[in-house]
Amino acid sequence: MSHADLVHRGLPHGGLPQRHDGRLPQRHDGGLSHGRLPHGRLPHRRYDGRGLIQPRSSMTTTQPTGVGIGLRREHFAAIEQCERRVGWLEIIPENYVAHGGHALANLRWCAERWPVVAHGVSLSVGGPDPLDEDYLVGLRRLLDELRAPFYTDHLCYATIGGVNFYDLLPLPFSEEAVHHTAARIRQLADRLERPVAVENISYYATMPGGTMSEGQFVSAVVEEADCGLLLDVNNVYVNAQNHREDPRASLAALPLHRTMQIHIAGHVKEGERIIDNHGRPLIEPVWALYEQALQAVGPVPTLLEWDTDIPALDRVLDEADRAQAIWERVASSWSPSHAPRTARSA
Ligand SMILES: [Fe+2]
Repeated sequence: MSHADLVHRGLPHGGLPQRHDGRLPQRHDGGLSHGRLPHGRLPHRRYDGRGLIQPRSSMTTTQPTGVGIGLRREHFAAIEQCERRVGWLEIIPENYVAHGGHALANLRWCAERWPVVAHGVSLSVGGPDPLDEDYLVGLRRLLDELRAPFYTDHLCYATIGGVNFYDLLPLPFSEEAVHHTAARIRQLADRLERPVAVENISYYATMPGGTMSEGQFVSAVVEEADCGLLLDVNNVYVNAQNHREDPRASLAALPLHRTMQIHIAGHVKEGERIIDNHGRPLIEPVWALYEQALQAVGPVPTLLEWDTDIPALDRVLDEADRAQAIWERVASSWSPSHAPRTARSA
């Protein structure tokens, strides 16, 4: 899934993210009222997101639970009429920081009804360029307004020397990259004043200079950063297929005990490779891997991603309902004793 694809979708003005002044647009609806927000309780899990900065004690956060969907521009009208179970929403914050208009109004309307979390695509968490401090100010304000309990981004880089590749590129699986990226995640959590989780990305080539496996690299980063894992089950499957590995072994090699959220999505086959395009229903092996992941990490919030060839909202919710049924089945019988002690022992 490319960064450019992600940012284009749902972008209020249909273009790439614009430079920002760090300020949210003027409120035109009096801000968010949280009196009617559902306050879902997080299910018990081994990592509680307390390893880094906690949300400020004075802030009541809105916790996602069960299965949610991405808020996309294509569904702005439909979601305001929707009477089905939505669960919770995930947004791409780059589409809202320093933007206003209908998109922000729709987001505020949604945030009065469902928990909303933010999943960034442009911070280049593992990259060499300094984090954009002005953007982080605007991002923290947006997260505060949404009362988002945590922030997630990708374990990747996207810019070098100010040049944005508009893609989520893999980092070299090296000790140097571990130390650099972990320090940046700590910096990010400090600026945002809330826990951060990073996502295992799909990648189609490995960077030179690596000395460890993907599982070892992801584990080392999240342990050194003391942060959460956003476990993308489809990415595990895509990488395993493309790199000729066993997806169940790849899953078990990740630091599952630090999972704060899960992603599931569809992909497309192109010749010998499969591409993580978020544009199809999940295939059966990914459903099976999702259930295995849930049984390992417990019923953590799960987000169904559908970002290209976006169908009607009802079709997306049909897919989310199938995930919700699995989530509820696992939640009803899960106990912490099922959880892996460490990623390597899972
Ligand atoms: Fe994902």
